[in-house]
Amino acid sequence: MGPLQIKDILQTSPENQSVTVKGWVRTKRESKNAIFIALNDGSTIHNIQAVAEPGQFSAELLSTVTTGSCLKITGQLVESQGSGQAVEVKIDDILVYGTADPESFPLQPKKHSLEFLREIAHLRPRTNTFSAILRIRHALAFAVHQYFNDGGFFYLHTPVITASDAEGAGEMFRVTTLNLNKLPRTEEGAINFKEDFFGREANLTVSGQLEGELGAMALSKIYTFGPTFRAENSNTTRHLAEFWMIEPEMAFFELEDNMNLAEDFVKKVITYALIHCKDDLNFLQNRLAEEDKNKPQNERSIPLLEKLSFVVDNPFERLTYTEAIEILLKSKPHKEKKFQYPVGWGIDLSSEHERYLVEKHFKKPVILTNYPKEIKSFYMKLDEDGKTVRAMDVLFPGIGEIIGGSQREEDYDKLLGRVKEVGIDPENLWWYLETRKFGTAPHSGFGLGFERLVLFVTGMSNIRDVIPFPRYPKSAEF
Ligand code: 4AD
Repeated sequence: MGPLQIKDILQTSPENQSVTVKGWVRTKRESKNAIFIALNDGSTIHNIQAVAEPGQFSAELLSTVTTGSCLKITGQLVESQGSGQAVEVKIDDILVYGTADPESFPLQPKKHSLEFLREIAHLRPRTNTFSAILRIRHALAFAVHQYFNDGGFFYLHTPVITASDAEGAGEMFRVTTLNLNKLPRTEEGAINFKEDFFGREANLTVSGQLEGELGAMALSKIYTFGPTFRAENSNTTRHLAEFWMIEPEMAFFELEDNMNLAEDFVKKVITYALIHCKDDLNFLQNRLAEEDKNKPQNERSIPLLEKLSFVVDNPFERLTYTEAIEILLKSKPHKEKKFQYPVGWGIDLSSEHERYLVEKHFKKPVILTNYPKEIKSFYMKLDEDGKTVRAMDVLFPGIGEIIGGSQREEDYDKLLGRVKEVGIDPENLWWYLETRKFGTAPHSGFGLGFERLVLFVTGMSNIRDVIPFPRYPKSAEF
């Protein structure tokens, strides 16, 4: 598949054979006896070292070989004299594909802040940190497809443009072709969406779940993996306006089966990264350790690989929302009034509460179930008590909610009742409601925020740094 990449060449045994390497210059170093060029093509975290003799190339050519420039180097693959690598390239020829003026190329070989790199998202994949993140992101996406394919799930492509609010939370981006300067009006003066492209109001999807359920009612086990959009004005390190969500949906699964699947699934994809992304994870682990050096001992995080192995090797704690509230009510921060938000049955847990449960109380991932129906979506199956629903949230250390899911309400009358109760027009969901009329069945599913998973696995602290081109309030650059 194309010419050898640096990843492959670094694994090749050196026999003075001729090789061609293409990539971007990370550093150039000149000593009395040699000129060293470190080249990287993004196929691995490791650079290949290319070595020339002083005087072998003109000063004019060498002056264009600067950090960020792109080169084609031909030469011989030899055993490296240095200690950092097994092989290196003894240069015969250099072709400069593209220069990068050191005066204006922003990525110089020094430490740049993540905030600065966010401003140059078009170039940041060329840094070690971001290339490592992007390779891990790829591996996790691949592992997701592999996991579901092996498990007999079908990949269902749900629409990006929808006319329904799957979560009923009203956080949608509108899709329209109407002229905003000259909106068509009805006789009553409202905007006339009949004249819009779809002849009705349309939005970008917040979740593929509702269509996913239609798929599960035919194929038994499906999953979606696509972009979802939320117009919530959340300026946090955990929220994006555009994020990728993985949503399996399974006929004949009850809440317990759903929890078992969710736990097995995250453990398996993390294991995949542990096996296939060793070099990148090691790099990120060292990077974090370096950052931690400046922190007091008690604020330092556990090493990344240890953290990931711990999650894979230990069962998640499972308890009900009601039990969690009892723990919080008995907790020290509650008694000492240290929580910012009040605790009591019926509250929507805030991130400080979730973090207390996961990081302080259980010290491991937690699955909370059976939440009050008032704080959850309309489609969740009502428990016998009529107060709680068969919801499940998986909470992760340092992340908070990584998965949200539930058993679905399969009873037509109960579901219709909930739809009306939360103020959704049943007309808009006629097709969804019909699944409960024709061959309804118990079924369940969940949604994993892909970026929250990547955040956890890479140990990064801001979700804007684990997606190539983040979308958040007041930012749609690139
Ligand atoms: O809990 P949520 O809103 O659940 C759903 O959308 C359901 N339809 C899922 C289902 O049952 N099929 O979102 C699911 C997950 C969250 O746990 C979180 O990981 C992620 O999606 N998420 C976000 N990630 C990044 N930015 C945001 N703004 C997110 N909102 C939710």
